[in-house]
Amino acid sequence: MNSIDNSIIKDLSLAENGQMKINWVKQHMPVLNKIRERFEKEQPFKGLKVSICLHLEAKTAYLAQVVQAGGAEVTITGSNPLSTQDDVCAALVKSGITVYAKYKPTKEEEKEFITKTLETKPDLIIDDGGDFVTFLHAERPDLIPTIRGGAEETTTGIIRDKALANTGKLSFPMIAVNDAYCKHLYDNRYGTGQSVWDGIIRTTNLLVAGKTVVVVGYGWCGRGVAMRAKGLGAKVVVTEVDAIKAIEAQMDGFEVMSMNEASKIGDFFITVTGNYSVINATHFDQMKDGAILCNAGHFDVEVNVKELAAKAVSMKEVRNNIREYTMEDGRRLHLLAEGRLVNLGAADGHPAEIMDMTFALQAVGLEYVNKHYKELEKNVLNVPYEIDENVARLKLESSGITIDSLTDEQVKYLNSWTTE
Ligand code: ADE
Repeated sequence: MNSIDNSIIKDLSLAENGQMKINWVKQHMPVLNKIRERFEKEQPFKGLKVSICLHLEAKTAYLAQVVQAGGAEVTITGSNPLSTQDDVCAALVKSGITVYAKYKPTKEEEKEFITKTLETKPDLIIDDGGDFVTFLHAERPDLIPTIRGGAEETTTGIIRDKALANTGKLSFPMIAVNDAYCKHLYDNRYGTGQSVWDGIIRTTNLLVAGKTVVVVGYGWCGRGVAMRAKGLGAKVVVTEVDAIKAIEAQMDGFEVMSMNEASKIGDFFITVTGNYSVINATHFDQMKDGAILCNAGHFDVEVNVKELAAKAVSMKEVRNNIREYTMEDGRRLHLLAEGRLVNLGAADGHPAEIMDMTFALQAVGLEYVNKHYKELEKNVLNVPYEIDENVARLKLESSGITIDSLTDEQVKYLNSWTTE
């Protein structure tokens, strides 16, 4: 397929800048570089078509090129209207990858892009947030038959894929990259922890030290966001619905309270729950003038933007990616990046060193699905531990770190049930 003729992007002349961004991240993705070298030799995807739906920024572009280096014909679309970078899309097209994506597409364009990406009849898919899987099963089951299987990036996607699998209707195996240790322990915690603050700080140019930061949800992402808020000198409040996570947050040194109480004192609110309407009209009524609201969950449903707009007497853009909602009593609430993922809508996503591991898992996970798809269950499956461990080992190796191994006596000791 001719990528230049087929792609739909904003502007091919932006390619040089996009390629510079890709070259920069490449230098910081040693694990993926090693995998690319192996793929070039072994050609695991030779003759196959791979369709990808991911946040279309430089690290993702490099993953697409690594899959292409493995012999695949790659087509890609974005997974969020604000996270697609037009210059990166242009660079990808120039490198022979077909792209259907642009920054801020209309709803109709978004649908068209997903449709076109899947109408290539892929053998394998990489999905983020379950967009491909949902579209294929709900709207275009005619495009399912060629698909051997795929890999899913996020918690949200895995929840949706599992819900579908529970009805017995998932038509191919999906490997749960998010649940691998090398993904959620690092990407969700250290990646989200840093990139969310990158997005907030770039966008607002405000001080965090001495402010009250409310982190809504204490999963792996919430833990990271709270930890980095503390490092920036904020007073950190955590809200939770899970009693066990709430105690953990308290023992990690954070104040834990209900959203009702937190809404009165927060300067920054960050949602990381994966759930719907966790900040809503009840909370907007109680917030301080100037409060900043943003989301780092996959979908833009965590801050109830409809209720916020309904409460406002006026709204205006006060800075790029900041919308000010003025309440009847004059208080102004500021929403970042339309309530979409602030780290990707208002910044470049996770650091390259973090995505190195996540995308290594995507590349090798996809290779695994392709090798074993005939015997794999049509279900949501874990990344095999050996793949996970190998990614960690490659990461250590690339940092020049050596670790110890168990001696034979230690192995024997660990495997015996007596004390001798
Ligand atoms: N860059 C590309 N995909 C990403 C993701 N899922 N999270 C953060 N940064 C990313």
